Amino acid sequence: MRFDIITIFPEMFEGFFSGGIIKRAVQKGLIEINVCNLRDFTTDKHRQVDDRPYGGEEGMVFKPEPIFAAVESVRQSDKTPVYLLSPQGREFNARLAAEMAQHRQIVLICGRYEGVDERVAEHLATDEISIGDYVLTGGELAAMVVVEAVARFVPRVVGKEESVRHDSFFEGLLDYPQYTRPREFRGMKVPQVLFS
Ligand code: ADE
Repeated sequence: MRFDIITIFPEMFEGFFSGGIIKRAVQKGLIEINVCNLRDFTTDKHRQVDDRPYGGEEGMVFKPEPIFAAVESVRQSDKTPVYLLSPQGREFNARLAAEMAQHRQIVLICGRYEGVDERVAEHLATDEISIGDYVLTGGELAAMVVVEAVARFVPRVVGKEESVRHDSFFEGLLDYPQYTRPREFRGMKVPQVLFS
């Protein structure tokens, strides 16, 4: 499965990819991640990705042209879904992650809090998704959350596939509490039932 991430902060993703489950999945060839710098799709000498909003509000808004150009350059098929990450989107959850993992490729557009020209949401994105009911400065952290949660549903990314399916949130159940050694720590004991 391939993830294409469109961002103005590609360097933010370096740490995320350099360890753990994501690094291993890339090394094993189970997933491929392409981080795309939105500024590479501008045509002016200042490489400007944003502009003042019509209507006179404060702040800046991402222009549509570089985003359309970036998505068109990475999208391998008309069937590839394109997700705009924004606090206005529909809430991301395990079910949606599992659904997203059925695609060969997904494109994630990292927006930013002041906004993205609405034509991106209306005419380019398949869906607008939020990782929770709070506002982040940009969609980068949200994209990392989505990549990790979706990658876990790609076969063989997680050691035992069963452990994904049995994850508490996916089954709508609470996970049971876990303990490890020592059997007693500062007077706090592991429940007796675990030794029976
Ligand atoms: N960008 C800013 N806030 C966000 C959120 N809560 N989810 C996804 N993208 C965002």
